[in-house]
Amino acid sequence: MADATLELLKELTEANGVPGYEGPVRDLVRKHLEPLGKLSQDKIGSVICQVEGSAETPKVMLAGHMDEIGFMVKHITKEGFLHFLPLGGWFDQVLLGQRVVIKTRMGDVVGVIGAKPPHLLPADQRNKVVKRKDMYIDIGATSKEEVEEAGVRPGDPVIPRADFVSLANGKTYLSKAFDDRVGVALIVSTLEQLKSFEHPNTVYGVATVQEEVGVRGATTSVRAVDPDVAIVLESDIAGDVPGIKPDESSVELGKGPTVLIYDARMIPNIKLRDFLMETAEEIEVPLQVSYIEGGATDGAAIHLHNTGVPTVVIGVAARHIHSDSSIIHRGDYDNAVKLLVEIIKRLDADKVAEFTA
Ligand code: CO
Repeated sequence: MADATLELLKELTEANGVPGYEGPVRDLVRKHLEPLGKLSQDKIGSVICQVEGSAETPKVMLAGHMDEIGFMVKHITKEGFLHFLPLGGWFDQVLLGQRVVIKTRMGDVVGVIGAKPPHLLPADQRNKVVKRKDMYIDIGATSKEEVEEAGVRPGDPVIPRADFVSLANGKTYLSKAFDDRVGVALIVSTLEQLKSFEHPNTVYGVATVQEEVGVRGATTSVRAVDPDVAIVLESDIAGDVPGIKPDESSVELGKGPTVLIYDARMIPNIKLRDFLMETAEEIEVPLQVSYIEGGATDGAAIHLHNTGVPTVVIGVAARHIHSDSSIIHRGDYDNAVKLLVEIIKRLDADKVAEFTA
């Protein structure tokens, strides 16, 4: 039987869209949101889907970012290698050996990230981490001319080349860009479900751009929406891998979506946070608490809009985040949708007013 959720996650994560170059993923997002509400766009490319409920207000914003981390071609050497700029935060140690796709005006060009081989390094350098500035992209060319003939120019976006895989247990999925296509998928799934329910508000599902370079699309789209309350949907950091202590992250795959109690740029509205936690308990959706000291979300911009917007972040935990291959658990996704639908059904004018009383 066709599994629409799996297909949605596969399609969205395999689509390309590094910050500033979200075109391909945006087309896909528009295709999925088109039947669900009224579409508009802010002027840097964030997609807004307005879904009317039984009341015009409160305005509920759901935000997930559609950009993914990647690179941009910076400079071509005369020998035919490409220096690159990062678009978003990479864990440099995962870069070497990574296959990439360069989107050129003449089509896709495949390459690999390389560095000086260990055999040629002096003994004292062999065990050291290779710095990103010492890496390059190799498209197999033997001269600058060959690179140019392939259509590659400085400014071309570079995307990790990775496909979606449903893993052995059938419950976990491996792909690139779960950060934050999982959030975008949650918006689509939630709006689809909402069609069958009354909700006392207007919902705005927003797929933002350029989150990974400093929450830029959230900054512009929140002005377009001007919400009364906001829920940011993000991938979260799973702590259930070797070497992570519980006080660094106690989040485990398959133990439910997360609610972020702290990140570097936002403290959530505590009444909204508690409402979320109480609702989860009531409908028996498992919810994990997470804290990210060294990162932020679109919430950073959204909660400071105008005179302030009550905002909270719901996450789906991912292992190996900020690499080209991360892993999420399907159960966490399904529970996040269930919780979101229930929350939205309860966000009427009185409830939302309580958050800022
Ligand atoms: Co993210």
